[in-house]
Amino acid sequence: MTRHKVIIDTDPGQDDAVAILLALASPDEIDLLGLTCVAGNVPLERTQTNARIICEVAGKPETAIRAGCDAPMRRPLVTAEHVHGKTGLDGPDLFEPSMPLTDGHGVDFIIETLRREPAGSVTLCTLGPLTNIGSAFQRAPDIIARVKKLVMMGGAYFEVGNITPAAEFNIYVDPEAAEIVFKSGVPIVVMPLDVTHKVLATKPRVDALRALNSRVGIFTAEMLDFFERFDVAKYGSAGGPLHDPCVIAYLLQPDLFSGRHVNVEIETQSELTLGMTVADWWGVTDRAANALFIGQVDADGFFDLLTKRLARL
Ligand code: RIB
Ligand code: CA
Repeated sequence: MTRHKVIIDTDPGQDDAVAILLALASPDEIDLLGLTCVAGNVPLERTQTNARIICEVAGKPETAIRAGCDAPMRRPLVTAEHVHGKTGLDGPDLFEPSMPLTDGHGVDFIIETLRREPAGSVTLCTLGPLTNIGSAFQRAPDIIARVKKLVMMGGAYFEVGNITPAAEFNIYVDPEAAEIVFKSGVPIVVMPLDVTHKVLATKPRVDALRALNSRVGIFTAEMLDFFERFDVAKYGSAGGPLHDPCVIAYLLQPDLFSGRHVNVEIETQSELTLGMTVADWWGVTDRAANALFIGQVDADGFFDLLTKRLARL
């Protein structure tokens, strides 16, 4: 069994929360070095608070959680309360967490960890805008070659955008950071909307989580009861798409997913298509492939994995 050393960079968000719970439920496969929080779905003050709430609900108050960047590298912050609610974790009754934030800035933690750990041993899992990662790579280019791989939720191609007609939210919020990451040469696995819109938390699937009858199961079901509203209203979906848990599920069971190595570049100039992930899916350019762009998933296998793992917490 492969045990991955992982930093999770996140902007909780209900789907981030499920991803974090899945990681915390899988210690045999995931050595979680720490969470770094970023502004995204909601401002940083809320994302770091939400991360602490999630770890306390999971019974893991010893988890290292650091706050990172509170705004994109070169643009004003765009948030998504219309999807996640004012708290970013609307649905269950929330509480003020008692576990403290870990000292130090998230970007410093990313740099220091990659310099300390053996080269090629740390996987970055990004669930939000890439501001912390782009900032770390820009400040300390020496760490880039030390990254084992970066598995991200972000982007879209055939599925087009969810925050604009052209762009997915995580990339749209900080396209300059995304450009740094996609041009860095780090091995990248992308979970775009093309695949995340295929893992829908339908009523039977949410009820199976609620039926765990644990604090985690009920908390997760209540989050998803709220989280689905945006996608059901916009797309007529049968449930909320579990975007971010795809990143963690890929580490646990990669054969649930399939995709294609292609070139992906980021639009950073045009206001019309800002943040678009331009994936050369059909190889019509001579641009080198820089990402495994995932398009297919065994959705039933994904939810079977998720439910069995959350039952452990
Ligand atoms: O577009 C979906 C992504 O944006 C997810 O990561 C969600 O949590 C938000 O960050
Ligand atoms: Ca997220």
